[in-house]
Formats: sequence, C-alpha cells, structure tokens
Amino acid sequence: MSDIKIKEAPVEDEQAQPILTHEKSLSQKIARGSEAGDILDQQMVMLGIQLVTQLNVLLKTSRIYERTNAALDRPVDAMLTLIKTMAHDQPVTLRLQNDFLFLGNSHLKVNAQQMAVATSIIDVLNTWKIGGMTLSLAVESKDLREFAALFVSLDPANKTLEDLQKEIKARGIAGIDLEEQRQLQIQKGPGTALNTEPYSTKSVDPNVQWKAEAKKGYASMAGSIGALTQSAREGGTVSFKQAKRAIQNIIDRMVDDEAAVLGLTTLRCHDQYTHNHSVNVSLLSMALANRAGYPKAELADLGLAALFHDLGKSTIPMEVLNKPGEFTDDDWMAMRNHPTEGVLILSKTRGITNLPGRMAAAAFEHHMNLDFSGYPKLTVPWTLSLTGRILTIADCYDAMTSSRVYRREAMSPSKVLNMMLSKSGKAFDAVLLKLFVNCVGIIPIGSLVMLETSELAVVLKPSADKANAERPFVRVITDPQGNSVDHGREVDLTEKDETGDFRHNIIRLIDNTEYKFDTSRYFV
Ligand SMILES: [Fe+2]
Ligand SMILES: [Fe+2]
Repeated sequence: MSDIKIKEAPVEDEQAQPILTHEKSLSQKIARGSEAGDILDQQMVMLGIQLVTQLNVLLKTSRIYERTNAALDRPVDAMLTLIKTMAHDQPVTLRLQNDFLFLGNSHLKVNAQQMAVATSIIDVLNTWKIGGMTLSLAVESKDLREFAALFVSLDPANKTLEDLQKEIKARGIAGIDLEEQRQLQIQKGPGTALNTEPYSTKSVDPNVQWKAEAKKGYASMAGSIGALTQSAREGGTVSFKQAKRAIQNIIDRMVDDEAAVLGLTTLRCHDQYTHNHSVNVSLLSMALANRAGYPKAELADLGLAALFHDLGKSTIPMEVLNKPGEFTDDDWMAMRNHPTEGVLILSKTRGITNLPGRMAAAAFEHHMNLDFSGYPKLTVPWTLSLTGRILTIADCYDAMTSSRVYRREAMSPSKVLNMMLSKSGKAFDAVLLKLFVNCVGIIPIGSLVMLETSELAVVLKPSADKANAERPFVRVITDPQGNSVDHGREVDLTEKDETGDFRHNIIRLIDNTEYKFDTSRYFV
C-alpha cells in the first residue's frame, strides 16, 4: 500500500536523488491523452516536485548564505537542469491555486515526505500573495542567486508583491516572472477535475440541487453504516455499493468546494451518534487526505475505510453504548477493544474479499495516537500508517465536537482545535494537524461568533488569507437583538474599509453547544 511506501523514503534521499530528465522537445512529439502522453505528464509532475524541493532549499539556504556562497551551488545547478529540461518548449509555471500546487495545469500531488516541502513553499507563496512563478530558459545562475537573495531580504509584512516585481526588474533578474493570486474556483471538467485548467473564469455557484443531493448522500452513508453495524451484530452480509456511490459523489464536489462538504459535518441526519460520527469522520478524513495530496482514486478508499473505522463498536452491548452513567472498568475494557474487534469483523465480512490495508489501519490505529499514548497497547514495534494518522485527527475532532461520546459533553469546535494543537507532534502528526486546521479554519466551520454589531454569525468557510486566519467567511444569522434573520448577508471578515481598517470584527466566540444551536441549516 502507498501508506507504507511513503514512510520508507527518508527526506534526505529525496533531495539526493538524481534529477530525471526526458528527451528535449519530446512533449511536442507525443499526442496528448495518449498513454505515452500520460507518462510524460507524470514525469513532468515528478520534475515539478523536484523543482519545488530545490526552490525550497535555495530559499532556505539564501537566508543563511550570501548569493555567491558555494552552499548555493547545488540547489542552483539542480534548478537550472530542471528548468532546461522542463522549459524547453515553453516557460514552466508553478502555480498556487486554493492551496494546491500546479505545474502548468497539472496538480502536483505530493506524498507525506514531500508534504513539508510543499507546505513550506505554499506558505511562502501565500505570504506574498503569489499565484504563479514562471521560469524560462533565459534564467541563469546569477538570476536565481539574485532572486533568492532579494526574496529573503524583503519583508512581506511591509512590502507588496508589486514592490517585489519592481525590484526584480530593477535588478535585471531575467527569466523569472511572478504573478498575483486570483481567487477563482478550480473548474470541474469531465472526469479529472484536478487536472483541468486551474484558472477558470467561471466560478461555481453553491447550487440548491447539490445541497439536496448532499443531504441524501450523507443519509445514504449513515444508512450504509447502520446496515453494516446491524449485519455485523447479526452475522449477515453487506453491500458497499451504496456507500461507495455516495462517497464518490461527495469527492467530486469536494474538489470544487471543500467548505460545502465540511459544512455537512454539522448535519446530524441519523439519531444514532455512531452513524453520524462515522460519516463525519469519513468526510473530514477525505478533506484532510485531499489536502495531503492523496490521489483522487484513493480518496474514495480512504473515505470507505474511515466510514467503517468504528465497526468494532458493534461488539459492545447497546446497554453499555447507551449507558447514561459512568463506565465501569469492564465497560472501558470493551470500549478499548473496539479497534481490534473492528479488524476482526471487517476481515470476516462477506463483501470484503481481501481486507484492504487501509480499512484495517483505519479500524486498528485510530485510537493509538502518534506517540502511542492511546490504545490498543502493543508489545511489538509499530509504525502508524498515514491512514491511521489521518483518522486519529478526524476521529478526535468529530468525537469531541459531538455530544454523547463516552458521556462527555460536546465542546465548541475552536476549543477542540486548541486542545488538539496543544498535542501537536505528540498525539497528532504535526504536519497533518496543520493541514487539518487549514481545512476547517482556526475558527472552525460551523462555529458561532458574535460580531461587534452584536449580530450573531455562523462560520461558513476558513479565511482565504492565511495571515488573517482568525477572520473567516461568515453568514449573519441574527439581528443585533438576537432575532434570527433569514438569508442573512455573507461577510468576509478580512474586508477592509477606505481607511484600511477591518470592516467587521468578531468580539467573541459563542459556544453553540451551550446554546444547543443547530448551525446545520445554514449549510444544507
Ligand atoms: Fe473509535
Ligand atoms: Fe470514532
């Protein structure tokens, strides 16, 4: 499984690998869409990842050494070789769109090892609001050195991209062009949405029909997990078709509008906690995996694995699961067994002929924690899979934001996120947790906030501007007196007035669990 492969390659090797090249001008000889064309595209993507890696090394090294220092030779030479190969026919453009890196129009999918590098470059580009960087054959060693020195010497806090562009021109740096970010949606093409033109002129409207379908999809996933749990209790057989179809539908949508999909997690279609929880964990895991660069084809497998991560709970008697009081030691023992029971049930389930590693990992590892402080406790050495690490984050987040989990009261999304961040690198994988915060936002989707006008608003999606992550996109839902308003206005809290001050401010977070407030109707 790719989960396992990812862990084996150390970062150092990544940079030390010889640079792959292909015959110059090959791209013009091969028809697009042909098998050879696909291989060429894949090779370009690999080269693109190397370009990002070397750019990252160059910028980091330039923060320490002068432009003429020999320490810069390796990244500069590597970049020149890559540019020569890739830009032979036309200049090569590295683009940033919705926090995804593209080489031209191809999405640069990164594995777990490459993620730190990609995240670092994405952060750098975002800080400067750079949407694209074009490199042409005109670029020489001195240009790369000068550019890197300039780039790290300017402070994005008091310089704009325009200043940077002017300075590039003034210093005569050739072959490097920067362009600004454009906030447009990724166009959804037939089939391969991520590989289509990243800059579409059409933005996708939140359409009513999808919302209805999404609600059905959520219910369908909840129904499927319900049927499987029932079947596990009774020893029957189950079809995954229904769940698979619903998951695929949701993935297609997620590529266009991640926030709309995450908004679904505020929905509780089914009265059984476990069913809603399983669907939410599946949605959150897919969004996180998508950010982590999982190939689209594997997202559905992960979503399915996540949907059944708590199947082992079907071995716990209903009286225990629904117990109003405190758990006894025996109850806890049954509870702590559910990961192992989950794997046993999945391996015996008819309909799963070969138990996929991902499914086993999701069930077995989701309570282990990165530092193995959770359960089950093992006496043999163990390495947590990427699936397990993703599930740990998604599972904890949803469990803590929902009520009825182990008799605990629900916590507001931002409290949960703060608690989780305090365990970053310990219970949770730090890089994945950072990506997760990018998904749901510092003030997570579904949170209630009070604006300084005393109006209440619900968080619809995270801020597009990383520097102002605490200023999400909200919808006003009450007037200043607290009377609910229909079709309240949508407010971008990063918006500034003529004097440069923020137009609207959050004065406090409202604990929606305290008010028993259902925010789901603003999404679906
Ligand atoms: Fe669990
Ligand atoms: Fe769970």
